[in-house]
Amino acid sequence: MADTNRYGPLAARVYHLDKPIGRSFGDIEYYAERLAECPGPVLEPAVGNGRVLIPLLERGLDVRGVDTSAEMLAHCREACATRGLSAPLERQGFEDFSSALAFAAIIVPAGSFQLITDPGRARAVLRRFRAALRPGGRLILDLEPLSALTAPPGAARHWRDGDELLTLTEQRVETDPVRQTTCSQLRYELWREGMLVATEIDLFALRFWGILEFELALREAGFEAVEIAVDYRRGAAPSAQAGMFTFEAR
Ligand SMILES: C[S@@+](CC[C@H](N)C(=O)[O-])C[C@H]1O[C@@H](n2cnc3c(N)ncnc32)[C@H](O)[C@@H]1O
Repeated sequence: MADTNRYGPLAARVYHLDKPIGRSFGDIEYYAERLAECPGPVLEPAVGNGRVLIPLLERGLDVRGVDTSAEMLAHCREACATRGLSAPLERQGFEDFSSALAFAAIIVPAGSFQLITDPGRARAVLRRFRAALRPGGRLILDLEPLSALTAPPGAARHWRDGDELLTLTEQRVETDPVRQTTCSQLRYELWREGMLVATEIDLFALRFWGILEFELALREAGFEAVEIAVDYRRGAAPSAQAGMFTFEAR
């Protein structure tokens, strides 16, 4: 759906203000540690503005990205250029990315895999990831816990950028406990001198997975040796308080 999970111009600008390059939730250090000494190449689908990709490039890793949002990719390209870095970046999605390379690792931080809300399509993407990995290659991917399905929508937020004000309000449209999905209206506004100058609406849909359900989906796609880290700690037991699960599968 063209109006869903679009990350248009205002959404991309807000993402870049709210989650600039290097802003870590513990994930950047975790992914950097997991990929240390990874011979590359590494692919980050849904690379966004390069929040994670750029710190990995700065650590000398061979990382490239794809994303469906031209605006998010534009932020990423600009951030690479201002740092004198270069990485192949393509406008492609989870379902249609292509590469002549076989990857040593594919990473999907920030719960972006949950943007695929149809479980059949998500399972096909897992098979696609596996086919794009070289033998012994790794998929490392974050998922928010199933408990977040019923979490209340975020409060209204705003960001100042020079003399401009950007606002974001979220209204939950649907929480579907059978499909394990949520859909919200994200309304972005750009204000200058108290006047509304632009607005953008994005339907934002996510799917939430059970831990065992996702592990079985990984195994069905041909992955083995599935490990789960909790809040970026390896060996920790999943608990009801956990905020993020990171799956690593070979
Ligand atoms: C939460 S951001 C994550 C950005 C970055 N990976 C990070 O960790 O900060 C999600 C990204 O997914 C992208 N996206 C949405 N649907 C996609 C799809 N079907 N295929 C690839 N990327 C997609 C959006 O454009 C956006 O840049």
